[in-house]
Amino acid sequence: MGDHLRLLDQRFLPQKEDWLLLRTHEEVAASIRDMAVRGAPAIGIAASYGLALAAQNGADRESADAILRASRPTAVNLFWALDRLAGITWTPADILEEALKIEAEDLAMNRRIGENGAALIPANAKILTICNTGALATAGHGTALGIIRSVHERGDGLHVYSCETRPRQQGLRLTAYELLKEGIPFNSIADSAAAALMRQEKIDAVIVGADRIAANGDTANKIGTYMLALVAKAHGVPFYVAAPSSTLDPAMACGDAIPIEERDPRELTEIEGVAVAPAGTPVWNPAFDVTPGSLISAIITEDGVFRPPFAF
Ligand code: MRU
Repeated sequence: MGDHLRLLDQRFLPQKEDWLLLRTHEEVAASIRDMAVRGAPAIGIAASYGLALAAQNGADRESADAILRASRPTAVNLFWALDRLAGITWTPADILEEALKIEAEDLAMNRRIGENGAALIPANAKILTICNTGALATAGHGTALGIIRSVHERGDGLHVYSCETRPRQQGLRLTAYELLKEGIPFNSIADSAAAALMRQEKIDAVIVGADRIAANGDTANKIGTYMLALVAKAHGVPFYVAAPSSTLDPAMACGDAIPIEERDPRELTEIEGVAVAPAGTPVWNPAFDVTPGSLISAIITEDGVFRPPFAF
């Protein structure tokens, strides 16, 4: 980062690797809101650089902080990063230094999550995942996808099933892109195929990421995650959540109060800008759901593997 933040625009992947050059915190906030950058840790990191740009540009600290906080409501990593930066002296060098630390620490945490999680996965495992929790969603390596990467690095075989992740298709567009690059064997599936998959194939584990984990383990993650947890329970498949400690929100006693973002109905009614639903179709489009801690077999962080009852 010099006078700008260079950000890969995930909205155009995998068709195009288009880089955005962002010069103000307002531009960074817009890139988070419009999901050019997405994934809980990546949102926190981008916001940190957004604040560094604000400091460089001589912007008002309070208003820059407020604009970045308003970009997306669910991923607690955004607020965690901005809270951390609130304790740093308001000079461009100091804010940038802390933003760089936040990014570097995220990568290190993901590596440890990968090791901690891989220890739970048998050889030749079949793993089901949702959304994109990989390098694109983090500083690198990934969380749930980081565990998958670590298992692959171990070299004793695995097969991934990756949910398409309607409506924005982070699984089909981004996770498939990362798995292909890594040479990890996988099949993409429609979200609605998950129950049939768990019935027909012996899935060894479902591994998902998280946007916010309450003190009792209730976990907000991409819409559809709760459904996977219920189906996993019905089939006796372990259901693992992988996240860095920056995704924990110990101040929230349970998941009921986690703010769930509702996004534009056109995410559902249009595909690539083409309307597929009758004009005027009413839509409910929550971006996340909350999986009760009681359905989670373990939460894997950089600090270890936590089993229920959870108490963060
Ligand atoms: O709406 P998104 O794409 O930002 O949602 C992302 C997810 O739900 C991820 O699972 C979560 O942020 C963890 S990313 C390591």
